[in-house]
Amino acid sequence: MITLPGSYSNIDTYAEDLSRFIDSPLFRQITGDIHVNDALIYNAWEALPAEWTAWWSSIPDHRLVQQDLVDSIEELSTISPTKNETNNNNENRRALNPSDRPESLTTWLRTMQSLSLPRSQRPGPTIDLPPVLTGRMKTKKIAEVSTAAAYIHHVCETKNITHIIDMGSGQGYLCVSLAYLFPHLRILAIDGSETQLAASRAAAASLGVPEQRIQHLRRFIEGGGGRSSSSSSSASAASSLTEEMAAWAAGEKCMLVGLHACGNLSEHMLRFFVEAPFITCLGTVGCCYNHIVPRSAACPDGFPISEKMRGQGVQLSATALMTGCQAPNNWERADLSGEKESSSDYSKRRLYRAVLEKILFDKGIEVGGTADKRPVWGVRKGDMDSLASFTRRAVSCLGIDGVRITDEELAAYEDRYRGHSGRIAILWTLSVMCCKIVESVIALDRYLFLTENGGEEVEVLPIFDYRISPRNLMLIACKNNKSNR
Ligand SMILES: C[S@@+](CC[C@H](N)C(=O)[O-])C[C@H]1O[C@@H](n2cnc3c(N)ncnc32)[C@H](O)[C@@H]1O
Repeated sequence: MITLPGSYSNIDTYAEDLSRFIDSPLFRQITGDIHVNDALIYNAWEALPAEWTAWWSSIPDHRLVQQDLVDSIEELSTISPTKNETNNNNENRRALNPSDRPESLTTWLRTMQSLSLPRSQRPGPTIDLPPVLTGRMKTKKIAEVSTAAAYIHHVCETKNITHIIDMGSGQGYLCVSLAYLFPHLRILAIDGSETQLAASRAAAASLGVPEQRIQHLRRFIEGGGGRSSSSSSSASAASSLTEEMAAWAAGEKCMLVGLHACGNLSEHMLRFFVEAPFITCLGTVGCCYNHIVPRSAACPDGFPISEKMRGQGVQLSATALMTGCQAPNNWERADLSGEKESSSDYSKRRLYRAVLEKILFDKGIEVGGTADKRPVWGVRKGDMDSLASFTRRAVSCLGIDGVRITDEELAAYEDRYRGHSGRIAILWTLSVMCCKIVESVIALDRYLFLTENGGEEVEVLPIFDYRISPRNLMLIACKNNKSNR
């Protein structure tokens, strides 16, 4: 059973409240109807509740507002001093006094907090990985593998499973560790990238893990066991992969695992779990939600995947899905004791980006694609000296004839939007702080899909420490397949 946020005890009520919240005009505006880059074109600031913007405008440093917003969605149990706070006392932690906020803003923030699935790491076993394994891992990966491997091993012991299929196995941090640590386990590592698999194979070989214990398979994973796939080609690819996995398992029960199975790979895994009889346990952590494919006529298996969420008409825009990849609670806390931020700051870059879009819009210059899909260009030294420098470089990267925008016009835009960087920074913060809601929608949809399709002991488990790994929700499930031993 899923662990709901503290204020909910009924999953139907929770699902309905969550769906209603993400369908509200305000949430829609903030998470994509108006992209921050288009904020000046569509007057995004003016479209927010007037009492919110009036209050924010009265605060001299917008970073206080940003910090207040981000703190307001932090899970109470996770609040603890972080490394960059060592000079701050805990009582100084709140950037602004919440009682000064307009009541409607406080209510909205509390709703966000109360609708977000719990993210505090659930206590569980970890393994002290030996240096031969950690040597090629970063700190974050060591923390993830030591927890995930211990959890998977525990499930295998409890459920009498010896065979593990790792989908999206990448360079093999998890699967090679499992094969090395637990010689009785048999591992099948599947990934679509030969480069990733080559690194995994090399790691296994360097540790002396024989192929009998870990096999690698290059396959692009799509569909599921074959029954539900949207196109006949993906259905046949899925069923032939199912046959290959079944042949490898040779009648043994399998646990299907994925560590940061990106985009809709997690959804494919859920389908393999419910459709392949020999797969009896599942543990997958998702990531890169921006790669999720929404449901459409061309992709009837797309998001959402559960009947319940489909019935509620749940949709998330491309920008909202991108928001789900953010983790503002892990942002470095600004040093608010010092001078107001310097002119070369991140917020100035966001402002210049939004002004650039406004200029292109006002002058009817078409670049192709939407503001969030433009080619990316790096900011070089000197680009942030003025709006003119920023724009001149941007137009040359975008292939626009520079003579279409004069220096006088650029100077006028710079004057007009001087002092707007705080607004753009607040708009950006508002959008990214919806991340936990977006991720809750995705996790709930996956949970519901599993329960609708015969999953047992289904749970959304916060397996990692959110402050190290913000994508810390593992979808777990088992099924009791009587035809299998
Ligand atoms: C974010 S990485 C995670 C790698 C590994 N599990 C880890 O934690 O280090 C995702 C991996 O999934 C693979 N992948 C993504 N979508 C896939 C698909 N549809 N079929 C096969 N492999 C896929 C990518 O090639 C990549 O290696």
